[in-house]
Amino acid sequence: MCGIIGKIGLGAPRFVISGLKTLEYRGYDSSGIAVALGDAVFVQKGVGTIDRVVYSVPNGVAAIGHTRWATHGGVTDFNAHPHLDCSGQYAVVHNGIIENHGELRGELVRRGHVFSSETDSEVIVHLFEEGVQKYGDGVEALRYVLSRIRGQYAFAILSRDGRVYVARKGAPLLVAKGKDGVYVSSDPVPLVGVADEVYRLADGSYAVLSPDGVQIFGEYVPVPRVDARRVELGSHRHYMEKEIFEQPRAVKDTLDYLRRENVRWELDGRIHLVAAGTSYHAALYGEYLLRKRGYDAQAFIASEYEYWKGKEPDYVIAISQSGETEDVLSILRNLDGPEVYAITNTPGSTIEEYSDHVVYTRAGPEVGVAATKTYTTQLTVLAHLFSDANLSELPGFVGDVLESSAPIARTYAKVLSRKNSAYFLGRGLDVVTAKEGALKLKEIAYIHAEAYPAGESKHGPIALIESGFPVFFTASKNMLSEIEGNVQEMRARGAEIVMVTDGETELADVLFSVPNVDTELFPILSVPPWQLIAYYTAVERGVNPDRPRNLAKSVTVK
Ligand code: F6R
Repeated sequence: MCGIIGKIGLGAPRFVISGLKTLEYRGYDSSGIAVALGDAVFVQKGVGTIDRVVYSVPNGVAAIGHTRWATHGGVTDFNAHPHLDCSGQYAVVHNGIIENHGELRGELVRRGHVFSSETDSEVIVHLFEEGVQKYGDGVEALRYVLSRIRGQYAFAILSRDGRVYVARKGAPLLVAKGKDGVYVSSDPVPLVGVADEVYRLADGSYAVLSPDGVQIFGEYVPVPRVDARRVELGSHRHYMEKEIFEQPRAVKDTLDYLRRENVRWELDGRIHLVAAGTSYHAALYGEYLLRKRGYDAQAFIASEYEYWKGKEPDYVIAISQSGETEDVLSILRNLDGPEVYAITNTPGSTIEEYSDHVVYTRAGPEVGVAATKTYTTQLTVLAHLFSDANLSELPGFVGDVLESSAPIARTYAKVLSRKNSAYFLGRGLDVVTAKEGALKLKEIAYIHAEAYPAGESKHGPIALIESGFPVFFTASKNMLSEIEGNVQEMRARGAEIVMVTDGETELADVLFSVPNVDTELFPILSVPPWQLIAYYTAVERGVNPDRPRNLAKSVTVK
């Protein structure tokens, strides 16, 4: 999704360009930069990668930049941010949605403002221009903007004199101080290694950044510093590879933290789990564990929650690695009654604001778009909370799985890279892994993949099976006998059977054997082979797994 970055201080444009490159992982279609020149603001922007768009930028004391993932207005050079006001003295970058932009644009046009984009964002900078004319002061102008706009936003306005005015409501925004200057960013990763103090503005707060420092109006919370080594690629080709292989460490750090903090949740009523994408699969895992223990628990895809939720729950468990997914936040924002428990990988993220209790996965920042280590650590948290299984050997077991699976996955990827479609099947808890395997393969390797409970496959999906069709079975040892019939049905029609199991079997053409564990922990060991297959297949197909097309790391719009 869109990203904001800005600096006041030495080498500001250079920092903003490198910050924009760091933000690339979030997904974007256009980009741009604005630099304060004293008498005017310089803007360079357009459709395409940062290297293509931002190529010759003058030096200046302050700069802001943006990566855009189009929502309002097509992917065009004009719609790329920053947007200038009529006088060319101010430029805005914005994430989120200004709901009343149509009405405001009409008003501003009637008062003589000329717009150069179709975006909702541009109204902000024209309102700011009016505010300065009215009040003769930047902070008052900012208040004027805030009094007029409705919606969810995080924005930064650069003034030609080198000040930056920022505000947020419903979309993330951080301000920071370092020895070389002050910063604004929508994401903690570009601040790693440069900022000494980072603060998340609370919803409704705003701030002014100047060479003298940061002045915040309203509430804010300090954000813990991230160890710079956590975001270095090291010897890996891609972040996705790095993050898959980091899982033993990530699971161990998460377990150590859970034990150290003695994390326990006492729940005894109706429980709803809400999440999106991969985190929804973790929610399904949580639902399974809770139901096994007799709880009235149900997992919901966050964007569907309002249609399906039924009777109010007593507790909501919200799972989001980024802590910024709007589909999840919009549920929490509108809740009135249930106690909210959150699981997130991002300390300082917005989900904290809407939650009564927060538990962290200790995966470290996840830069690859595909969720990998954040997923296995979400499962680890849920297993710690709701399973009686012994977790102490998990980190070592995950390491064993990666070591034994990588060569098999790399070899099989050569075959899979030539296929167009695949099924992921399992029964019971293994359906969760099947769903996650299918999601990884389609989003990273662009191969159509669907997941089903194995028993459902003969009620329709089997129609597609023909010679060489890949079918990926996830089967914990006690499910092997249950899926045997399904495997035979597929094989009889020519399917290629790939399987991950912790049992003994001769059913598979390609087999991933993982250590024998408690069935409730099997999802933590059965998913790495599917992550590796998706990764190596993407590489085999020449697709960059860190930047899959059309996807964004943190989906901050509904
Ligand atoms: C898949 C993926 C997405 C996210 C989803 C939710 O690899 O990354 O499906 O899982 O957008 O994101 P969070 O967990 O940040 O709420």
